[in-house]
Amino acid sequence: MSADKALNRALWAVMNERFTDAAAEDMWSRPEPAWGLFAVPEQDLGVLGDVDGLDVLELACGTAYFSAWLSRLGARAVAVDLSHEQLVTARRMQAQVGPVFPLLQADGEQVPLPSGRFDLVVSEHGAAQWCDPERWLPEAARLLRPGGRLVFLTNSLVSALCVPAEEGVAGDRLLRGQREAYRVRWPGGGVEFHPSHGDWVRLLTAAGFVITAMHEVYAPPDADDHAFYEIVSKSWSTQWPAEELWVASRP
Ligand SMILES: C[S@@+](CC[C@H](N)C(=O)[O-])C[C@H]1O[C@@H](n2cnc3c(N)ncnc32)[C@H](O)[C@@H]1O
Repeated sequence: MSADKALNRALWAVMNERFTDAAAEDMWSRPEPAWGLFAVPEQDLGVLGDVDGLDVLELACGTAYFSAWLSRLGARAVAVDLSHEQLVTARRMQAQVGPVFPLLQADGEQVPLPSGRFDLVVSEHGAAQWCDPERWLPEAARLLRPGGRLVFLTNSLVSALCVPAEEGVAGDRLLRGQREAYRVRWPGGGVEFHPSHGDWVRLLTAAGFVITAMHEVYAPPDADDHAFYEIVSKSWSTQWPAEELWVASRP
């Protein structure tokens, strides 16, 4: 395993112990799919469509709540993550809250599953942030059937440019160059990827995708600050998009 992946795996063991294990029951128990730090309802964005009967792969699923939500809507979900600890929590939630679906410990850049197995690949703050886009996008294309779709949410480029390296939330100043944001090693954190919009267009196209939408996701007026991901505040995110939600298809 590369040094970057080992670092990220160690980081998510700590994140699981500090935050995500404790938050999992609340996330798994939510009645409807919602996106990102401010839980924007899927029905407001309408990016997934009807998932009933679809084979869905979640790349870098964390505690796999997103797959749980899609399974309840009739999807046949498979959820992949690099972190043993995150998947232990996901397994506990399957027993405690349900439903049960396959969980696989694997690298999102190299998934040990057959080509053309899925109708939809999804990721919410997962592969798009934590995997190299030169590797995970071709892998997502390989795993999709012709006509399959890729839907992923990640931090907005503007938040990646404005968030302090050490501590605290994004402000109203650029703190790093756009080129530096492509691959960032945060002091005391992990290694993340924040390609520019031009990079995403180039990378998605090179992997064989046709881009159908990119939603800039702001915090809804009634949102609260996120309990533990200290990246952006609610007030910042009503002025600038906290996240980007990309939708693409494999012709
Ligand atoms: C933000 S979390 C999970 C997403 C979840 N929807 C959430 O918002 O909590 C990011 C996840 O990416 C996983 N991850 C990091 N690098 C990975 C890789 N190369 N392959 C698969 N998963 C990876 C981490 O283990 C972690 O569980």
